[in-house]
Amino acid sequence: MKIILLGPPGAGKGTLAKLLEERKGFSHISTGDLLRKEVKENTALGAKAKKFMEKGLLVPDSLVVEVLKKNLNPNGSFVLDGFPRNISQAKMLEENNIDADTAISLKVKDAIVISRLSGRRICSKCGKIYHLVNMPPKKEGVCDVCGGALFQREDDREEVIKKRLEVYRKESEELIGYYAERSKLKEVDANAEAEETYRKLIEVLGEDGKKRKN
Ligand code: AP5
Repeated sequence: MKIILLGPPGAGKGTLAKLLEERKGFSHISTGDLLRKEVKENTALGAKAKKFMEKGLLVPDSLVVEVLKKNLNPNGSFVLDGFPRNISQAKMLEENNIDADTAISLKVKDAIVISRLSGRRICSKCGKIYHLVNMPPKKEGVCDVCGGALFQREDDREEVIKKRLEVYRKESEELIGYYAERSKLKEVDANAEAEETYRKLIEVLGEDGKKRKN
């Protein structure tokens, strides 16, 4: 099964995708994580992407597609987190026969998004996502799973969060209509805490979500 998670920054795409990976065996592909890795490794692609990411803007399609193609196994079960971000990226999936079976639109209020993103902390070693209030680590600044140091993303500063939300409304929100027209869209209320939202997601995925491992 191939799933696309749609939703604004902070909707919980990464959190839910990681749960689907751990509990159901999906491969979690986050274009944001892949681009941040390129930036960290100081590659030529990373240096170009950084200029857009630090301002909260979308990275040009050609760069994102390049990084996606390197990391996606089109024949396996995957959950795409952060791709597509516009209609031309959605068409690229169709043209390459790697289109998803279902697109999930995560619905969440702006006020919740801002509080989630400003409290987000991520493990620098294994990528586990925490929140200072909603999902705190047992020991401050340290990952429960691997002991790695937690960090705050540079684009989780308030002014960049606002820009990312604006870009989402302008460039990505129309994907909801795009997948609805193709009868692939399902909606999940993502305002509740993570386990409750995950439960709703599995319910919406129906038999395909239930029958995999766990
Ligand atoms: P990307 O990394 O994809 O960021 P994003 O879409 O802005 O989404 P986030 O990762 O911020 O949020 P999320 O929905 O995953 O939330 P999370 O689960 O972490 O992209 C970053 C940048 O890369 C873009 O701005 C762009 O420049 C570039 N880029 C990436 N893909 C691109 C593409 N395809 N085209 C062009 N450019 C691209 O949760 C957030 C916080 O809330 C966490 O602290 C978590 O613990 C907490 N939380 C989550 N769910 C819940 C819940 N249900 N209850 C309580 N707390 C929760």
